[in-house]
Amino acid sequence: MDFKVRFVNYSLQYQNLKEEIDATMQDVLNRGDLINRQDVEEFESGVASFIGVKHAVSLNSGTDALIFALMAAGVGSGDEVITVSHTFVASISCIAHCGATPILIEVREDFNMDVDKLEQAITPKTKAIIPVYLNGRMCDMEKIMAIAEKHNLIVVEDSAQALGAKFKGEPSGSIGLAGCFSFYPAKILGCFGDGGMLTTNDSAIAEKVTLLRDHGQKTKTDILCYGFTSRLDNLQAAVLSIRLRCLPENIRKRREIAEIYNNKLADVTEIKLPPAPNDEYFDVYQNYVLKAQKRDELFAYLKENGVETLIKDPIPNHWHKGLNLSHFVLPYTEQLAKEVISLPMYPELTNKQVDYVIDCVHNFYLK
Ligand SMILES: Cc1ncc(COP(=O)(O)O)c(C=O)c1O
Repeated sequence: MDFKVRFVNYSLQYQNLKEEIDATMQDVLNRGDLINRQDVEEFESGVASFIGVKHAVSLNSGTDALIFALMAAGVGSGDEVITVSHTFVASISCIAHCGATPILIEVREDFNMDVDKLEQAITPKTKAIIPVYLNGRMCDMEKIMAIAEKHNLIVVEDSAQALGAKFKGEPSGSIGLAGCFSFYPAKILGCFGDGGMLTTNDSAIAEKVTLLRDHGQKTKTDILCYGFTSRLDNLQAAVLSIRLRCLPENIRKRREIAEIYNNKLADVTEIKLPPAPNDEYFDVYQNYVLKAQKRDELFAYLKENGVETLIKDPIPNHWHKGLNLSHFVLPYTEQLAKEVISLPMYPELTNKQVDYVIDCVHNFYLK
């Protein structure tokens, strides 16, 4: 189908930086620098200084960042790890991959962990908490860190959707024991495939994760532990460094688009808008998510009118039989699965396109 407004536009994203990206890729290929070379190191130090952490270890995905963070922190069989069901499944599967047990709690109106439900989920087996910063908005990290400290728990931030976000001035990925980022193409900072990163101020965690990403090899002749193949390609790192330079401007643009949506959709009583940023929450709007009455009809109407939207999780994670999580009862999360819809949100959108999306939403509810 020929959409007037795509949900994401990878081609345009590339075209806008084509010359620089092409030249960089040719340079990397001519140098023959493919695995763990200088471009990886440069990108890692670029992200570390952007976030303000001591270490940034690039990996092949955000999922591996989460798994390795837990593994490096010693989470394993017999441990419980608390997170939410309303998230991308990787926030939960990382726990199972470590042999630990996922404990799922509710989210709040802003789609993030309901901190008031956190303490009652803690048991003597609880080892870690994974707050998920969904849609580019952080959790209330002051309260989460206070509870973690009180119960001596590890905090691993699932920052996959929130590079550049802040809570009370603290950047995502800089607060817990580790932050986990994804460079999946649709992310705020996306590459041409899969990529991820772990950030930390803890040198031992950084060292362990650096070993895990490369089969435990300290050097080619010295293997210190069992590990994996989970490196970020040097070519991807080189491209990501170019895009990292554009990140502050891209975040500014996302926030501007969100403000237009917020202002011009405020009169539609059938939808609930995401919370507007305030002094405490600096949101980066990875996604712009509405709670909408007649959600499925709205999706179909927008599609008919050339607007591509996304219904990400029509089935809550804990209802998928293969995950063995159906013992959790989370009414608000289950309700959200019927209501949420993501509108197009990316820096390349024109104001005309944003206005067109807004007009279509108005027309749907007024018709
Ligand atoms: C909240 C969240 N956590 C984890 C991940 C996993 O990242 P990746 O797809 O790079 O493995 C994603 C990415 O989709 C995500 O959105």
